[in-house]
Amino acid sequence: MQVIAVANQKGGCGKTTTAINLGVCLALNGRSTLLIDLDPQAHASLGLGIEAKRTVYDVLSKITAQKLSLDEVIVKIEDNFNLAPSNIILSTLEQEMADEIGRESLLSDTIKNLKKSYDYILIDCPPNLGLLTINAIRAADKVIIPVETSRFSLIGVSHLIEIINLIKERLLHLVDYQILVTIFDSRLRHSFKVLEKIKENFKDKLFQTLIHTNVSLKEAQLNGQHIINYDKYCRGAKDYFSFSRELISQEEPILEEKLEEVLRVELPKLKEVVFQILFPEAKEVYLAGDFNNWTLDEKSKLQRREDGSWFKKLSLNSGKYRYRFVIDGIWENDPFNPNTEPNPFGELDSLLIV
Ligand SMILES: Nc1ncnc2c1ncn2[C@@H]1O[C@H](COP(=O)(O)OP(=O)(O)OP(=O)(O)O)[C@@H](O)[C@H]1O
Ligand SMILES: [Mg+2]
Repeated sequence: MQVIAVANQKGGCGKTTTAINLGVCLALNGRSTLLIDLDPQAHASLGLGIEAKRTVYDVLSKITAQKLSLDEVIVKIEDNFNLAPSNIILSTLEQEMADEIGRESLLSDTIKNLKKSYDYILIDCPPNLGLLTINAIRAADKVIIPVETSRFSLIGVSHLIEIINLIKERLLHLVDYQILVTIFDSRLRHSFKVLEKIKENFKDKLFQTLIHTNVSLKEAQLNGQHIINYDKYCRGAKDYFSFSRELISQEEPILEEKLEEVLRVELPKLKEVVFQILFPEAKEVYLAGDFNNWTLDEKSKLQRREDGSWFKKLSLNSGKYRYRFVIDGIWENDPFNPNTEPNPFGELDSLLIV
């Protein structure tokens, strides 16, 4: 599970548009996604057509009339895409929390108690650096900072990054940030100038995807719809879909790691064993035993060293094995191994315990 806060104290830079439409695109990619609306303006909820009575306020507040769990306020938007809505009452929470100990960890504690697990939890933050935003950063593994390419867009970003770093150091919390360029108007030379500046300042902290200005994104939000429902062929839908793919490309290869772990645990450990015999005048030497069903073929041939010794390396599970060498067609047991066991032909097999 990855928790991502979408934050920037600057208003109108595309936080909510990003949270909603990234959310639905992650869901389209088969990622189970929860969007938590942590803004008292409730734009993410309204932008998805939800006017809720049961909200995250009832989950986080200690004095609410209806104390609820996060699972109880969640609304299904699409398959794989759920919303924990907000409303204006959430604005009172910051005051309520002001004197509480551990107030900055309220949301991260709440997320831990979620019954259903999600691949992604997105948190839409309000346009300030108050306790709600601090809670979101504290709960997050990553902060997406939307920056639009207007004149004053970079003001405040460094302050937000300072706060992220402070939370990282003070609360020993691993959280990273990345910048997403939004509302990019490619008709304006000015946009490119700002983009250059952003690239200079943030280098590898910048997502490659650009979110262009697209009126459908605005209309969709006003209509209470995400962009895939409103107009899935528009530029905005394409941009947010590309963005979701970029984010997914950053995912840890969890499956492969898990597979390796399973293999490590489930497969018995193999041990490398070297069989060798000194026989300079031999023309060919084979190794036959329980481990290869006593077969003489190319795979059971020993290799000759310059000093006239012959060897073969095998990786074997732990256990007991009987074996013999076949030197120019004559079966011999291992002269360097004193452990032997009689075989049905009245001869001795060498015995190896791994
Ligand atoms: N790429 C875009 N193209 C056109 N309009 C956009 C785009 N992104 C956002 N908008 C519009 O800009 C306005 C602000 O966007 P949004 O609500 O996403 O910003 P915000 O950062 O969440 O704002 P706030 O700080 O108030 O929460 C909205 O009307 C939205 O529809
Ligand atoms: Mg918003």
